Amino acid sequence: MTKQLVANVFEMNTPGHITHGLWRQPDNQRERYTQIEYWIELARLAEAGGFDAIFLADVIGAYDVYDDDFAPAVRRGLQIPNNDPMLLIPAMAAVTEHIGFGVTFSTTYEPPFAFARRMSTLDHLTKGRVGWNIVTSYLPNAARNFGLAEEIEHDLRYEIAAEYMEVLYKLWEGSWDDDAVLVDKPGDLYADPSKVRRIDHVGRHFRVAGPHLSEPSPQRTPLLFQASASRAGIAFAAQHAEVLFTADRPAGALAANIASIREAAVAAGRRPDDTRFLVMATVIVGRTEEEARAKLERYRGYRDAEGAFVHMSVPFHPLQHPDDITVREALEREGRHDVVARGGLPLHLTVGAFRRAVDEAWDERFLAVGTPEQVADTIEHWLDVDGIDGINLRQYHSFETVRDFAELAAPELRRRGRLRESYRPGETLRERIFGEGARLPERHRAARYRGGAGL
Ligand SMILES: Cc1cc2nc3c(=O)[nH]c(=O)nc-3n(C[C@H](O)[C@H](O)[C@H](O)COP(=O)(O)O)c2cc1C
Repeated sequence: MTKQLVANVFEMNTPGHITHGLWRQPDNQRERYTQIEYWIELARLAEAGGFDAIFLADVIGAYDVYDDDFAPAVRRGLQIPNNDPMLLIPAMAAVTEHIGFGVTFSTTYEPPFAFARRMSTLDHLTKGRVGWNIVTSYLPNAARNFGLAEEIEHDLRYEIAAEYMEVLYKLWEGSWDDDAVLVDKPGDLYADPSKVRRIDHVGRHFRVAGPHLSEPSPQRTPLLFQASASRAGIAFAAQHAEVLFTADRPAGALAANIASIREAAVAAGRRPDDTRFLVMATVIVGRTEEEARAKLERYRGYRDAEGAFVHMSVPFHPLQHPDDITVREALEREGRHDVVARGGLPLHLTVGAFRRAVDEAWDERFLAVGTPEQVADTIEHWLDVDGIDGINLRQYHSFETVRDFAELAAPELRRRGRLRESYRPGETLRERIFGEGARLPERHRAARYRGGAGL
């Protein structure tokens, strides 16, 4: 069967998400992110183009490692200012019928009970069109915003996340039965209390009594997204995630990365096709190849190389040193003996090589440029040879990127059977991606709490 592309718009409630400096293009709309009209326009465009979902990234702190200050991030609008992503969803849902919404929320700082209710609310209001990108957060400043002196250690964050998930599954899947809500007016019975239960969760990190405050929503558990690269992260993904972001890192490792997560998921009792793999991708399409190339050059003319170092929390200034000294020497010249002692950076690498590695991390391994036919050829290669299932489309220009994809790339992909012809009315986001039910399958660990079992 021809594999169809999962296509999401990659967004964030901020001027500068992941295309550093490009907000400066005179007709880019990024600074309109505070306006509800921006999101309404985006949602309508994306739905008209047949995208599966709008995917909203989020961070809950400022990038303040580079220069030891948040100033470089603020100056660039680089994920600060940054508004709450969840609150955008009802506005976008109200003007659309089909498109899904993926939203990022961290398991590290806010306890699960209130989050469970917010997601259930969104799943109700969107009629099951919502997904959650599970993150454990990586910014030191985020820790300090939530009362901690420093970040919780990486693997412990995943341990906390694992318990967080159990609490959520108990609330979402186990606390209310499907037939609990009766709305029986003559019988004076809104909901049957014998079909609603507390969860009485007592764990290492959380104590939650319940019951869940929301009645069952179309998907109960939202579609679960996750991006992981580490051992702990992959072990977590194998248990929980349905749609995963992956990367070709180290170069050439994409197929192995996908296979190892799939195998781990199968070992956790899931099926190979219970997981889907997305990459961040760039599609620059024009009516002619020259037009597409010119667009790419125009975008690249606004690129801000230093932004990548700010974003990656690099604790020195790679642009201020000659290419041929080592990272260690550069750090020493800047008096950052603390960083040298702490390790974690490739100290032996030359600054030139380090700069190139950062460039590569941001570069466009998944880059399709050209006519509709050319980008469709490239995307088919990603699907069939690289083995991915879909993309988060990186916006080089709002709304040109989404509009070009919708008007130029999507029709060609549709002609080739690589994009669905139309939305199926009433479908939840999980049904759209997996073609099965609205709820998590029985073989997912969340199912163990259904009907109050295992509570
Ligand atoms: C496409 C993609 C999107 C991501 N979006 C976010 C995000 O919005 N917020 C966040 O805190 N982390 C985000 N991350 C980082 C991941 O949550 C995770 O920290 C990272 O992939 C490292 O994996 P590890 O946690 O297993 O070490 C994203 C990663 C990728 C690849």
